[in-house]
Amino acid sequence: MRKNIVAGNWKMNTTVPEGVALAKEVYEALKATKANCDVIICTPFTHLCPVAAVIDQNVLGLGAENCADHKSGAYTGEVSAPMVASTGAKYVILGHSERRQYYGETAETLREKVALALENGLTPIFCIGEVLEQRDNGTYNEVVAKQVEEGLFNLSAEDFGKVILAYEPVWAIGTGKTATADQAEDMHAHIRATVAAKYGKEVAENTSILYGGSCKPSNAAELFAKPDVDGGLIGGAALKCADFMGIVKAF
Ligand code: PGA
Repeated sequence: MRKNIVAGNWKMNTTVPEGVALAKEVYEALKATKANCDVIICTPFTHLCPVAAVIDQNVLGLGAENCADHKSGAYTGEVSAPMVASTGAKYVILGHSERRQYYGETAETLREKVALALENGLTPIFCIGEVLEQRDNGTYNEVVAKQVEEGLFNLSAEDFGKVILAYEPVWAIGTGKTATADQAEDMHAHIRATVAAKYGKEVAENTSILYGGSCKPSNAAELFAKPDVDGGLIGGAALKCADFMGIVKAF
């Protein structure tokens, strides 16, 4: 059966000492509680090594927020999937809407990134989601299905089975405006049906689909109670241990 997962996306926040302190705090809090889901933090590249050194990833998983679409070479400023894997990180967020929007990530570059992540033993947390205009004009189901198809449907069923999906309506990210639990459930069921049509029911049933976008302790339980919502990808609320743990405890 698929896993329930709460994953933090720290984005471009915290210095290394601040990030190590936050990771330690979350790790200690998790050791003191029995979480009913897998818990992951995805941090800036600079934080991966020092954070990996202070946590046990059987308790708290560690991931990056991106990786390059090339293995190595003359790509100044980029960080490759093998580099991320060599820090000890096990996950990588790919295709976040901020990367699609501000850094021009396309389905084509994302396919390369997903392939390199998988080749290097990293679990991709693959983000999809419509913008407000698409929510308002009713094209959101097609838009999101297309993102899944174009980014991932070149994979074998075996490889697809290693991917975590994160539905993040762009209009809900960092805006305080959460999708309702029913809106999230409708989309998650639609995504699962899209996956089932390509890879079959078993693969679809085993795929974890996280919700992201202004998820917080006060709305997490209602979202996670929905049958197709398998957890959350948490931005702002992942930067405070108490808030993040409040969401973890919603399971
Ligand atoms: P948010 O971000 O929780 O701050 O809305 C979610 C995300 O972008 O992953």
